[in-house]
Amino acid sequence: MYNGGKIILGLVIFVGLFAFPIFYNTGKTADVPKPSLDTPVINQMEKKECVESKEWMKANHMQLLDSWRDSVLRDGNLVYESTGGKKYIMSLQNNCMHCHSNKKQFCDSCHSYANVKPYCWTCHIAPKENEI
Ligand code: HEC
Ligand code: HEC
Ligand code: HEC
Repeated sequence: MYNGGKIILGLVIFVGLFAFPIFYNTGKTADVPKPSLDTPVINQMEKKECVESKEWMKANHMQLLDSWRDSVLRDGNLVYESTGGKKYIMSLQNNCMHCHSNKKQFCDSCHSYANVKPYCWTCHIAPKENEI
């Protein structure tokens, strides 16, 4: 006869011990980039907000830029109205990079981490570091 309780306890400990490094490592992917908002323009904003909500921007900025380009180049429409009803010029340089003039510490910090290399900068001029 064997002791079912002990076996189960043993299994719980076994699973616990082996799963530990997995949980431990998951917590450790903490060197996820923290994109810096420290730019002259953003520092001067009373309410620090992007064109859309932060979460939305994080997930959708690529599609937003694509649709801006199409609007400007195909339809000649230069003005974007945000969900909150604010109006913005649809421009990579004169909008995004006006606020996010620290491309390296902002855009690039995420993109290097995610290993994406937007090809925009072969034509569009990247802002000179923190110079406005
Ligand atoms: C008026 C200034 C301003 C403009 C213009 C602007 N941003 Fe932002 N952006 C901000 C601020 C401020 C935040 C932080 C918002 C917050 O913390 O809620 C932010 C946040 C973001 C984030 C999320 C960052 C994170 O930590 O997750 C992304 C991505 C982003 N912006 C990309 C863009 C792109 C792309 C454009 C142009 C389409 C743009 N922004 C235009 C000021 C701006
Ligand atoms: C919070 C992190 C983060 C920030 C900040 C950020 N990006 Fe991104 N960006 C990403 C990720 C992740 C992808 C890849 C998304 C995908 O493939 O779905 C991406 C993709 C893109 C793409 C599409 C590239 C491609 O090859 O498909 C463009 C364009 C882009 N970002 C522009 C910008 C610009 C301009 C800024 C700065 C104003 C910026 N991003 C800031 C995370 C970020
Ligand atoms: C082959 C050159 C080239 C590349 C690469 C390129 N663009 Fe452009 N883009 C242009 C030109 C030219 C215009 C029109 C400029 C104008 O009307 O002032 C433009 C206009 C735009 C506009 C609207 C106007 C403005 O001032 O920003 C957006 C938004 C834009 N591009 C986004 C992007 C993004 C995002 C990428 C990268 C994923 C990209 N472009 C890559 C050449 C390019």
